[in-house]
Amino acid sequence: MSHDDFPTDEPAVVTCGLPYANGDLHIGHLRGYIGADAFNRALQTLGQQSAYVCGSDMHGTPVAVNAEKEGVDPEEFALRWHEQYEETFPQFAVEFDNYGHTHDETNTETTREIVRTLDEEGYVYEKEIQVAYDPEADQYLPDRYVVGTCPYCGAKARGDECDEGCQRHLEPGEIENPQSSITGNPAEYRERTHKFFRVSEFADYLTEFLDDLEGTSNARNQPRQWIEEGLQDWCITRDMDWGIDYPNGEDDLVLYVWVDAPIEYISSTKQYTDRVGTDEYDWEDVWHEDGEVVHFIGRDIIQHHTIFWPAMLEGADYNAPRGIAATGFITIDGKGLSTSRNRAIWAREYLEEGFHPDLLRYYLMTTGGLQQDVDFSWSAFQEKVNGELVGTIGNFCYRSLLFAQRNYEGTPETDVSADVEERIEGAIGEVREAVNDYSLRGVGQAATRLAQFGNEYIQRNEPWKLTDDSPDEAAQVIRDCVQIAKAVGVLIEPIAPGKAQTLWEQLGEDGDVADAHLEDALEAPPRTFDEPDELFEKIEDERVEELEAKLEERIAEATGDAGAEETENDDTGSDEEKDMAETDDLEPLLEDRISFEEFQDLDIRVGRIEDAEGIEGADDLARLEVDIGFETRQVVAGIKQLHDLDELPGTKVVLLANMEPAELFGVESNGMILAAGEEADLLTTHGDADLGEKVR
Ligand code: 2FM
Ligand code: ZN
Repeated sequence: MSHDDFPTDEPAVVTCGLPYANGDLHIGHLRGYIGADAFNRALQTLGQQSAYVCGSDMHGTPVAVNAEKEGVDPEEFALRWHEQYEETFPQFAVEFDNYGHTHDETNTETTREIVRTLDEEGYVYEKEIQVAYDPEADQYLPDRYVVGTCPYCGAKARGDECDEGCQRHLEPGEIENPQSSITGNPAEYRERTHKFFRVSEFADYLTEFLDDLEGTSNARNQPRQWIEEGLQDWCITRDMDWGIDYPNGEDDLVLYVWVDAPIEYISSTKQYTDRVGTDEYDWEDVWHEDGEVVHFIGRDIIQHHTIFWPAMLEGADYNAPRGIAATGFITIDGKGLSTSRNRAIWAREYLEEGFHPDLLRYYLMTTGGLQQDVDFSWSAFQEKVNGELVGTIGNFCYRSLLFAQRNYEGTPETDVSADVEERIEGAIGEVREAVNDYSLRGVGQAATRLAQFGNEYIQRNEPWKLTDDSPDEAAQVIRDCVQIAKAVGVLIEPIAPGKAQTLWEQLGEDGDVADAHLEDALEAPPRTFDEPDELFEKIEDERVEELEAKLEERIAEATGDAGAEETENDDTGSDEEKDMAETDDLEPLLEDRISFEEFQDLDIRVGRIEDAEGIEGADDLARLEVDIGFETRQVVAGIKQLHDLDELPGTKVVLLANMEPAELFGVESNGMILAAGEEADLLTTHGDADLGEKVR
């Protein structure tokens, strides 16, 4: 069964993975919250009723461990961060309809009710298990209190997650070589009775659920593989004080944080309804009827959202998510974001530098597809801002509105031409399609391309040369340009809501552009408006040099401290922290050298992906068509899980063209695209090298 396209007649809720209330927000967090905010806004421009809810994740060891380090009570610690998040998100135009937290009354009650139902329905049982224990600290070691080796991939892991390796959830007792993160001692195992949720019973249900699931392909493909490998039941209690008590359970057991955290999606929706009333938005329509639930998450928590969470919802008779968009990570200057090494762009720091939030929103939303890792560097940020925002959108809107104001006091009194109307309708169609494809880059690009069209249109028609001899023609061109500018404002609103509002007001429009629907892009703007200001400001090279130097300096300062921390094995930093390849993890350099002639034997060419699709039956393989100037090559690449295939067409790649042909899963591969690292970061060119150009 496939879903009806957005907009539907049912209300939607958009959520984003709850931030642990345990530290400062940075660009890695912002990508997700801005993404979900932009998606919610985009749904609304399509005319979909939708609410955006979230809350702080207050429980679990991520909070308890950090509170302990500071010597404060976890509740006080988490509330402090929660309040800070409530202030920070709106500064990036991330506007939740409700932002609660997992320790509030609504969530405590909803969690108890859901767990009670699962228990009554026979989905919960007790089992004796071995739990890690630190005799010196005299305490059990749930989750982040224990570190060791992932039994699946051998990477260094935390007690409940293989955060640096395969990203799998780990059950208590599964981690190998367990070590206490409190004292660094090897952990002992002690027998304890815990509650288990029968996830394994939901395998068939989950398979069907995944067949219907929209969003990014990684949120369907990885869990399919886990189901094939066989699902384990899930331990849902922990030996801790901080958390929500198991209903009618033992005093010293609390629910695992991953039980009450996603339930906050429901609780926060309920709180929204409590505030606005059921006539305006009814949470029951969303969670108990046929409403549209869409989750934005980081790709490290796919298992929780595509296996545990839908099984809980099904077991307790709630509606399943329609879409899950699992975003890639953020890297900084090509390296993994690391909070302990201060290799991050902090939310507060960005604002203190005086940049408008929309610049970052635009950068994060349009630099890569949702699934892809996005690299941030101040110079790439400058390039995007100066090129697309200043050079394309800003330049077009400013020159059009200024000309219109000075010559006609606003919108010339004539109808928009049929060709331009058609071009705007085309852009509206692109946005509609992009939203239904969960492509925020597509939304942003539709607006930017329309502005680019506008720039070409005004340049081609040169209205400044027509005003004297052909005043009607001049008025027509400017009338068209004013309409294009209005359409750009409506279309870019989900991505850059502040700047879209400024443009809206420059056009003399009343009210909020956020309330406009896509069709309003075709409505005539007001007859008169005032002289506009420039929408965007260029970022100068000196400013970028300054920012880069600052970043380098603080990374250098922090690296010494982080090194010391690591030898203490005290790796309990923030969650978004994903240290990628440090030199220790890299493959050693080869000793043997090759001659230049040997290198010349490799025929490496610049190509462009024209088409990409998964190969049926192969978990990792994709079939690509790559244009290399002379011809289009069919290539098989192991990137199915690692890239959003729909986003790949148009990507320039580097291809080893004289690789021997091979057949994989019955598909002939005629070349090899080059990629780096475990995530298959595709090699590309950064200038304008032609297709077929040789790489030397
Ligand atoms: O991984 C994390 O940062 C968790 N705090 C996300 C929770 S999302 C959901 F389940 F609520
Ligand atoms: Zn692993």
